[in-house]
Amino acid sequence: MNNIIFLSIINWIHLLATVSWIGGMITNILILTSSAGETLEPPVMGKLMGAVMKRYRTLVYACILLLVVTGDLISRINPGYEGFFQLTNP
Ligand code: HEM
Repeated sequence: MNNIIFLSIINWIHLLATVSWIGGMITNILILTSSAGETLEPPVMGKLMGAVMKRYRTLVYACILLLVVTGDLISRINPGYEGFFQLTNP
């Protein structure tokens, strides 16, 4: 039972990191860039996008780290796990 709770939490973190990274990218491309382009002068837009991307980059690095750590933990819990990126289990 404890294993199920632990697996649920790390799986949730794994998925949260995925949607934060990919969802952030989609929001930036489809919503933020076009809205800023429509409402701001180019120099101001450049400044805004620079500030946004600086923070977004930090988020992406944190998400990648979380994905690798939680992904490794999810794998280790599986009885069929044979090692990091070992695809030998039929
Ligand atoms: C070292 C890196 C990673 C490892 C070891 C890893 C490992 C895993 C494992 C073991 C699962 C569970 C699979 C299952 O139960 O069928 C999983 C699910 C998932 N992973 Fe990763 N992962 C890694 C990186 C990533 C990255 C970079 C992304 C996305 C950008 C990602 C997105 C997902 C998603 C969306 C699921 C859920 C899939 C589903 O439930 O069908 N993972 N991962």
